[in-house]
Amino acid sequence: MPVGAELCSIDKPSLKLQGLMSISLFSQYFFQAFTEIVWYYVIFAIPFFLVFWVIWKKYWQPKRIQVVQRATSHHFKHDLAFSFSSFVVFAIMDVLLLHLEHKGYTQLYFKVDQYGWPWIFISLALVLFVDDAFFYWTHRAMHHPRLYKFFHKVHHESTDPSPLTAFAFHPSEAVIENAMNVVLPFILPLHFGVIIFWQIFSMLNNVMGHLGYELYPAGWTKIPFLRYKTASVHHNMHHQLFHGNYALYFTWWDKWMGTEFQDYEARYEQIFTRKTKPSAAVSPTMTSSFNRVKVTAKVLEQTYVFEVDDQQSILQSALDQQIPLPYSCKSGRCGTCKMKCTEGTVIMKKNAILSTAELEAGYVLTCQSFPQTDKISLEK
Ligand code: FES
Repeated sequence: MPVGAELCSIDKPSLKLQGLMSISLFSQYFFQAFTEIVWYYVIFAIPFFLVFWVIWKKYWQPKRIQVVQRATSHHFKHDLAFSFSSFVVFAIMDVLLLHLEHKGYTQLYFKVDQYGWPWIFISLALVLFVDDAFFYWTHRAMHHPRLYKFFHKVHHESTDPSPLTAFAFHPSEAVIENAMNVVLPFILPLHFGVIIFWQIFSMLNNVMGHLGYELYPAGWTKIPFLRYKTASVHHNMHHQLFHGNYALYFTWWDKWMGTEFQDYEARYEQIFTRKTKPSAAVSPTMTSSFNRVKVTAKVLEQTYVFEVDDQQSILQSALDQQIPLPYSCKSGRCGTCKMKCTEGTVIMKKNAILSTAELEAGYVLTCQSFPQTDKISLEK
């Protein structure tokens, strides 16, 4: 978070610190750092929430990523409360960095001439690459069942994220999310401007990843080079499906490690071609993030109507209710569960079978399909 701003605005002569910081000095710096972080939040995050989720919500509706809105006031309050607890953690870490900076331990510098312009750009690229890699691997680690509830569960309360979700972390996760801001200035000579640019870019990227709306144009995921910049859909899918799309700024780690959802590109394009109108409010049949969806499945002249929990695959929900939908591998590899979706929208976690033509024709693998609308019709 924006420690650079504090470095700029705190009166330097008053910072001739020796040894440990006194409590009153700590309080003074903490208050200043916390206030600045809140200002950054008010300037770079809150307006996005107001514009997309409150004031011009209807106007932006066609760009909504999840067709049915599941975020409620419960999620907004939860995310706001945890964001403020994150800011407390960030401010404490910033004061620590500030203290060490004034004792001369960091490599922060203010004059471009000291390392020249090429280093400004190289160091910025390095900072983004390292921060992105650190996020990817720590994020994956926090999804480990043994760690998840201690670090990352709070952030995943919202399966339909909003800009308020961007900084809603458990304090333990907040330490990890802010770690590079504290560590990198010790390892690399970083110009003050690079730090400020990195922090604003990072904040905007985080808000965009949780926006709930896709603002990039159609075809983004196919544009050479730019396709490696994460679209909002990328992180939104992570909030919906959990185990995949772990990236922060760039998609390459997910691509290299095989953790990108296979229908990410198809799902991205769906936004620009879908016929189902996204709903502006939580469906009346839905009361929480665990929604019930009505599925009608026609198999060999037999029609089955059943309810599906939108956190479970359609196939698994059907089998749990003794409905004999066809299947074999249950892992998206054999194609036995292929059905045509004639009403509603689903999102697929994995697909190693269906061709682009089949996807465009509406075919889905029920073992990998999660409902996105409150009504789904399938045919074998
Ligand atoms: S059961 Fe094999 S792909 Fe779904």
